[in-house]
Amino acid sequence: MARILITSALPYINGIKHLGNLVGSQLPADLYARYMRARGHEVMFICATDEHGTPAELAAAKTGEPVDVYCARMHEVQADLARGFRLSFDHYGRSSSPRNHRLTQHFAGRLAENGFIEEVTEQQVYSVADGRFLPDRYIEGTCPNCGYDRARGDQCENCTKQLDPTDLINPRSAISGSTDLEVRETKHLYLKQRALKDEIDAWIDRQTDWPVLTTSIAKKWLHDGDGLQDRGITRDLHWGVPVKKGDQDWPGMEGKVFYVWFDAPIEYIAATAEWADANGKTDADWERWWRTDKGAADVRYVQFMGKDNVPFHTLSFPATIMGSREPWKLVDYIKSFNYLNYDGGQFSTSQGRGVFMDMALSILPPDYWRWWLLSHAPESSDSEFTWENFQASVNKDLADVLGNFVSRITKFCRSKFGETVPAGGSPGAREAALVAELAGRIRAYDGFMQAMEVRKAANELRAIWVIGNEYLQEAAPWTTFKTDPDAAAAQVRTGLAMIRLFAILSRPFIPDAAAEMMRAMHSDDWSWPEDVQGCLNALQPGQPFEVPDNLFRKIADEEREDWQKRFSGIRA
Ligand code: 2FM
Ligand code: ZN
Repeated sequence: MARILITSALPYINGIKHLGNLVGSQLPADLYARYMRARGHEVMFICATDEHGTPAELAAAKTGEPVDVYCARMHEVQADLARGFRLSFDHYGRSSSPRNHRLTQHFAGRLAENGFIEEVTEQQVYSVADGRFLPDRYIEGTCPNCGYDRARGDQCENCTKQLDPTDLINPRSAISGSTDLEVRETKHLYLKQRALKDEIDAWIDRQTDWPVLTTSIAKKWLHDGDGLQDRGITRDLHWGVPVKKGDQDWPGMEGKVFYVWFDAPIEYIAATAEWADANGKTDADWERWWRTDKGAADVRYVQFMGKDNVPFHTLSFPATIMGSREPWKLVDYIKSFNYLNYDGGQFSTSQGRGVFMDMALSILPPDYWRWWLLSHAPESSDSEFTWENFQASVNKDLADVLGNFVSRITKFCRSKFGETVPAGGSPGAREAALVAELAGRIRAYDGFMQAMEVRKAANELRAIWVIGNEYLQEAAPWTTFKTDPDAAAAQVRTGLAMIRLFAILSRPFIPDAAAEMMRAMHSDDWSWPEDVQGCLNALQPGQPFEVPDNLFRKIADEEREDWQKRFSGIRA
């Protein structure tokens, strides 16, 4: 039994996530966590809301709530949706937690002691009326390029030109509208990533099994252009982790907070501590996942994320950990994803384009979405959600193949033998061939699941369901029954046992349907089918079962068209 630490990239707090966000990290991480648990490994699966930074402050300003109230509310909303999608986190934490404050300050202190922090004096825009320095995106004005009068200090959203706040014509504070702005001197902290570059480079070179998508992005940042740059890790915001050196004040840094990308990955660790706090555990209980001097040396740590997050996880966060010169666990494997597009364009949070987690669950149960998303995960390239494709895969894979198999065999059994597993007959050559075929496919499925090849695993699983249908088609117990009821009974037993087998194998993908299938077989034995033969013989004659209600319903054309219209526009 191995110990596996799994983290999913932390969703930003500022709004409900769309299906592209979900399939890029949380959902495949859940698949892997569920699979590894099913195989008997000890798993710690961690996620949290990423709550700091300007986007959180701006979103709260929009709703008129204090930012801490906004974050607490949105955390509950996101936690509820995570449960709705059956994401099986051991803990869903908050990057604004006291644990993360302390740990972030601790890391900053260690980095400073070890000479990896530089204090840099910079010129920055100060708003006299607001009594604060303004981050670039808090300054608005007229774009020098296109004349748009609401361009932000970092970029003009009209012509997309990247800007400096000093480029803006008639600059004003986005908070108060005041034009009483001055350029003042201020100090910021920089993480000296350049000093750690060789160490990071050598570490990445040792990761020979990482996907090309992951290493190529890391290498590009390490070597392209001027190579890895030092990184500002403080901001002039109110909301965030106050800048401190451990528990000591940091002279000159009063009123400043750490940059959101500095504290967010540290929350992976802090959330595990939050898990311990929430479950009456000790520090030793979470440290055995994270401290190599306290038991984590034999932990395998896997991270899931979208490709835009890769630089932070291959460079900045490792720099934080390495620079601490403390024995924290570094990631062992990074599974990164391309983008999921939506119906001929992109999913967009700001434009409300696409299907969002709450809308998805309002029209169909989670398994439908889980299956489509995972079986179309954007692994080797971007992939696209279309309603036609969604409808086709739900109707074919889930309803016609899996649902139909379960329904056919249970209904036939009920009509001829009643609602108990029938006795009589014994398996023959066809069943032996079935076992061999299933065993081969399950081996392949296991291989893909272990390698986190999500789409390939989904393909194998679908192929396994197809084997069930083919067996029924060929054995045709309804025909056998006419001449040899005992032989038909043996075939039916095999078919019913396959429902349990499919429940176990399918559970990481479609947990609700799997539970329903297992319940219908009046079993609660989820042990992994190492021995397929044994698994097919596991149902005892005389044992009751039930005909489950339709496991999956089909999506009608009119519904699909209706959804297509409803979700094409702008989300309120
Ligand atoms: O890109 C994002 O959605 C970020 N909130 C991911 C953070 S991952 C981690 F480092 F916290
Ligand atoms: Zn412009």
